Amino acid sequence: MEGESAERNIFVREPPELYALAAKWIRGAINNGINRGHCAIALSGGSTPGPVYELLAKPPLSEQVDWSKVDLYFADERCVAPGHAQSNYAMIRRTLLSQVPIPAEQVHRIEAERSDVMEAVSAYGRILPAELDVLVLGVGADGHTASIFPGSEAEREMRRRVVWVEKSPKPPPCRVTITPPVIGTARQIVVIATGAEKAQVVARTLDGPETPLEFPIQLAKRGAWFLDSAAAALLKKG
Ligand code: 6PG
Repeated sequence: MEGESAERNIFVREPPELYALAAKWIRGAINNGINRGHCAIALSGGSTPGPVYELLAKPPLSEQVDWSKVDLYFADERCVAPGHAQSNYAMIRRTLLSQVPIPAEQVHRIEAERSDVMEAVSAYGRILPAELDVLVLGVGADGHTASIFPGSEAEREMRRRVVWVEKSPKPPPCRVTITPPVIGTARQIVVIATGAEKAQVVARTLDGPETPLEFPIQLAKRGAWFLDSAAAALLKKG
């Protein structure tokens, strides 16, 4: 598949153009939130979105957002210290938060490093807004998104909005994640995926039958999808 399918909100480009397009889309989604008064955005970690956050953190895009009207949340966090190489907060701080004038009290970290991780789950559940304006998600080749893995309790969670993941198949095993209801109520969702190893899950999610218990990323099917041609390679045309 090439180019873009506006109807399905699928955008296919090669990096770095892909990253620039996704960053602009996120800027627009943040400003839609601000136009309603304030923007609550939650970001994912992983390795894919870093270059997109870096573009959002630099002019011109960084100057097109009133960061004093943004509250920033996290889709999931690994149970490591906030400075750890595997911390999603550390990656997002390095690529975005340290570069833009967002007030520190408007950055709402998941404190997954706490010795009692359930305390971190409850604390985050209390601060996460009922409805996110923008949610940025990644996808794993197994169909997970945030830290909602196929076959896990998190994917069956319909009431609690934040849960502990004890045995994540993707290391590290201990994580805290948002749940399906949070994805379900987000106003705007963006999914960014690159690489041939994501091609099957992307095609299965967007073209296949609805089986979110097998592929939790299907919860984000209605989002805007930013793909490189390798990740989009198995999609049906149109
Ligand atoms: C995490 C994530 C996770 C990630 C996907 C894709 O903390 O691991 O939030 O859901 O987005 O696994 O990860 P990559 O971008 O590294 O492929």
